[in-house]
Amino acid sequence: MNQSGQSRVWLIPGSMGLATGGVLLVSVPKGPLWAAILLLIAWGWALRYLVGWRRDQRLLSESIVQLSDTVDRWASGDLHARVYLDQDDPLDSLAHGMNRVAEVLTERTRDLERDKKQWEAILTSMANGIVILNHGLTVTLINRAALAMFRVQEQEATGRHLLEVIRDVRIDDAVTRVTRAGGSETVYWSPPDQESLVVEVTIAALPGSIGGLGAVMVSRDVSLQSQVDRMRQDFVANVSHELQTPLTIIRGFTETLLEGDIDASSRERFTRLIHEEANRMSRLVDDLLTLSRIEHHSLPFAPEGIAAAVLLESLTSRLAHRIQDAHLTLASQLSPDLPLVSGDPDRLHEVFLNLLQNAIQYTPQGGTITVSGEVDPAHDMVGITIQDTGIGIPHTDLPRIFERFYRVDKARSRASGGTGLGLAIVKHIIELHHGRIDVSSMVGQGTRFTVWLPQYQDKEDAE
Ligand SMILES: Nc1ncnc2c1ncn2[C@@H]1O[C@H](COP(=O)(O)OP(=O)(O)OP(=O)(O)O)[C@@H](O)[C@H]1O
Ligand SMILES: [Mg+2]
Repeated sequence: MNQSGQSRVWLIPGSMGLATGGVLLVSVPKGPLWAAILLLIAWGWALRYLVGWRRDQRLLSESIVQLSDTVDRWASGDLHARVYLDQDDPLDSLAHGMNRVAEVLTERTRDLERDKKQWEAILTSMANGIVILNHGLTVTLINRAALAMFRVQEQEATGRHLLEVIRDVRIDDAVTRVTRAGGSETVYWSPPDQESLVVEVTIAALPGSIGGLGAVMVSRDVSLQSQVDRMRQDFVANVSHELQTPLTIIRGFTETLLEGDIDASSRERFTRLIHEEANRMSRLVDDLLTLSRIEHHSLPFAPEGIAAAVLLESLTSRLAHRIQDAHLTLASQLSPDLPLVSGDPDRLHEVFLNLLQNAIQYTPQGGTITVSGEVDPAHDMVGITIQDTGIGIPHTDLPRIFERFYRVDKARSRASGGTGLGLAIVKHIIELHHGRIDVSSMVGQGTRFTVWLPQYQDKEDAE
C-alpha cells in the first residue's frame, strides 16, 4: 500500500497477452473485490492468449503436414500434386514456391521423356546394331537390330556381362582394350553355326564425361559384301587357273620346238596343239569380256521382233556338220506360227548357240536333240525348248550350272575346249531380255532347257 491509498499490482510478463509484450503495471483501487476483478480480467486475458496460441499451433502443424504430404507424393513420382494453404497462412508463400518448383520439374520431366522416346525410336529403327556397355562391360542398352544380329532376347542381355551375351573372346578383348586405352577397333563376327552371316562390329570408347559408361558397339551385317569379296577372289583364282593350263602347254611345246631336232610330223602336231590352246585362251578372254560388258551394261542391246523358227533354223544348219559328226539326230518341232519374241538377234544367237553346243557336247552318239516352242498366253511369253537325250546333270549340280566356271565334269568339259562360262553368259543375256531359263534333267536320260522370252508387241498393234 502506498500513501494515496491505491494498491499496485505487478503482473508476470507475458501473462496479459501479446498486447503488452512486457511488464504490465496496473493501478487498481483499493479493496479485495477490485483485486479479484482485476485478477479475473488478467486470467481471462491469459486464457484467451493461450487458446489463440494453441489454435495457431494447430493450424501451423496442419499446414506442415500438408506440405510434407505433398513432398512425399512428389518423391513417389506424382509431380501433379500441389499444396494449397489459406492466404493468411504464414506458410502460404512457401507453398507457392514449392508449387512453382513442381511445375518446373514437371516440364523438365516431360522434356526428358520426349527426348528419351525420340532416342528410343531412333535406336529401334536403326538397321545397325547398338550395344552400350559400362566400365564393367555390362550391357546397359541393346537395340532391336543388335538383338537380332547376336540372336539374343532383351531380358538375356540387359544387365549381363558382355561375355554372357556375345560369347566371343575377340570382341571381349577388343572392348577391354578400347575401354582402357580409348580409340576404336573393328572385329568381324559370325555365329558358329552360320558362317555365311558376317557382322562387322566397331567398338569405340565413350568419353569419360558420360558417367559410368565404357564403350559403344556398332554392328552391321556385311554378309553380302563379304560374299561379293569372296566371289571376286574365287573369280580371280579361277581365271588365273584357267589361263595357267593353256599357258603351261604353250610354253612346254614352244620350248621343245626351240630346242630343234624334231621331225616334221611332231613339229606339225606341236604347232597344232599350241594353236588350239591359243584359241582356248582367246575364247576365255572373249567370254570374260562379254560377261564384263553385260555387267557394265555396255553390251550392244537392241530388241526387235524375232521369229524363233528362223533363228533356230539358221543355227542348226550352221551346226549340221557337227551334229552329223557326233552321230546325232536333230528334230525341229518349231512352228513358223509361233509368235515373234522380243530380243536382240545377236544376243539371242549367242544364247541358242551355247545351248545347242552343250546338247551336242553332252549327248553320246545315236542321241537326239529336239527343238520345240510353246506360248504362255497368261504372261505373254514364248518358250523355246532344247532337249537332248544326253548324259544328264546330277540333281545336286543342277542349281550351280549357271555359276561362272562351274562344270559337272571338269576334265570332260576342258577336254572339249569348254570354259565353263557358257551358261553364265546365257543366264545374264536372258535376264537382260526380262526372260527366264528353266532346266530339268535326269542322269543318263537327258536334259531339257526352256528359254522364256517376252512376246513381241508391235507398237502399231499395241496402239
Ligand atoms: N545339255 C547338257 N547336258 C549335260 N550337262 C550339261 C549340259 N549343258 C550344260 N551341262 C553341264 O553344265 C556345265 C556348265 O555348262 P557351260 O555351258 O556353262 O560350260 P561348258 O559347256 O563346260 O563350257 P563353255 O563355256 O565352253 O560352254 C557343263 O560343264 C556341263 O557339266
Ligand atoms: Mg557350254
